Amino acid sequence: MGKRILDILNTETSQPSITAEGWIQTVRTSGAVTFFEIGDGSTIFNLQAVADATLPDYTQLQHVPTGAAVRCKGELVASPAKGQKWELHLSHMEILGGVDADYPLQKKRHSFEFMRTIAHVRPRARTFQAVFRVRHALQMAVHRFFDEQGFIQVHTPIITASDCEGAGQMFRVTTLDMDKLPRKDGRIDFGKDFFGREASLTVSGQLEGEIFALAFKNIYTFGPTFRAENSHTARHAAEFWMIEPEMAFCDLAGDRAVAEDFIKYIVTEVLNRCSDDIDFFNQWIEKGLRDKLESLVQAEFATVPYTEAVAMLEKSGEKFEYPVKWGLDLQSEHERYLTEKLLKKPMFVIDYPRDIKAFYMRLNDDEKTVAAMDLLVPRVGEIIGGSQREERIDVLDKQLRHFDLNPEDYWWYRDLRRFGGVAHAGFGLGFERMLMYVTGMQNIRDVIPFARTPGNAEF
Ligand code: 4AD
Ligand code: MG
Repeated sequence: MGKRILDILNTETSQPSITAEGWIQTVRTSGAVTFFEIGDGSTIFNLQAVADATLPDYTQLQHVPTGAAVRCKGELVASPAKGQKWELHLSHMEILGGVDADYPLQKKRHSFEFMRTIAHVRPRARTFQAVFRVRHALQMAVHRFFDEQGFIQVHTPIITASDCEGAGQMFRVTTLDMDKLPRKDGRIDFGKDFFGREASLTVSGQLEGEIFALAFKNIYTFGPTFRAENSHTARHAAEFWMIEPEMAFCDLAGDRAVAEDFIKYIVTEVLNRCSDDIDFFNQWIEKGLRDKLESLVQAEFATVPYTEAVAMLEKSGEKFEYPVKWGLDLQSEHERYLTEKLLKKPMFVIDYPRDIKAFYMRLNDDEKTVAAMDLLVPRVGEIIGGSQREERIDVLDKQLRHFDLNPEDYWWYRDLRRFGGVAHAGFGLGFERMLMYVTGMQNIRDVIPFARTPGNAEF
């Protein structure tokens, strides 16, 4: 196996003989010399390999198509060309995988939309290589942050019987025969189903996360999450990844502090580890991205109660598509206006009306709002949703009834309040939303390897 191109390009001294493997990105012939740009995904930069006419199979090499898989051998020497330290003078190039004429990345630049239809080859394209390298670095940073802070990672189940967010947007999991559904008293008998009850794909690992927080104090989950909401927006996917820390002995202010430290830490890591990719996004995808990320790390995030945020929007004189009124949920256009135009930095909106949030959020003393927090950032809007949890069992029961939920169904969740229950809080970061923010990519379908959205599950 040859060295990674990243390591070759970072070599300190010239090398008499090296081997490099990768895919041809471009081929250019100039006089009696042919230049190949070779990439292997390890860096945004390609290795330039140079073949001259004295090579025995030179005529054949000149026609190696873009996209071919090759193994190159030769001498690594200082490059006279600008912008690259080294180039490879080929002594031999072996074509390991040829390319049929209909290879879609042959020459043209394609729209991101078209690229979604060829998700099996789009990871070879430069932008997507950068996206998925950053995706990797970002998830490593997530684990590093929590590990350094002493959080325990918990693998919460993907198949679940509880609807955490209570929004009824779950994908059913069943092995029942759709043509012969068993019935009892006129209804489908889920007692005959695989789990002996209704089951779904999880919308959040939070409820199970709370179980572990009340044993380990600080925990986090990081897993796939599923929502059957029929949203055709650039920020919603039916399958996405979510990071959910949960902290016992912690209130909403503590929750906010963890969220702010966390976001700053992972952005710093990406700036340090993916500097070349960030430069690429800064140049081609979002002008000013690097400045935005560097100032985020320095900024103090704002905190605005929902009631004030609504007043700010009402006073703004801005025409919105959706109405702004106390008691209505903030829409993406409102969120973006607040964080992009008014505050111009990341902001927590806290203390939302009880009726637009989930049953588990802690009721504030005004009995009208709950101890919730959403973190809004420019361009993306909401990236984090979180709250302090209701730890008082009598209030929790009132909340369950208020939301027409049956306290018996939540018996183990209620038990947590009876067995050493204590104030606790947590939040969920949408991993792809965060990735959109750090890369500047504008569609969630372009930061997840294989997007699951309404009507789309080809790859
Ligand atoms: O605000 P949400 O629904 O919060 C929860 O699920 C809580 N249980 C989290 C917690 O307190 N532990 O979702 C959290 C985040 C959102 O802020 C958003 O970034 C992301 O998950 N998200 C989505 N991302 C992509 N596609 C979707 N359909 C998303 N729905 C939510
Ligand atoms: Mg939310």
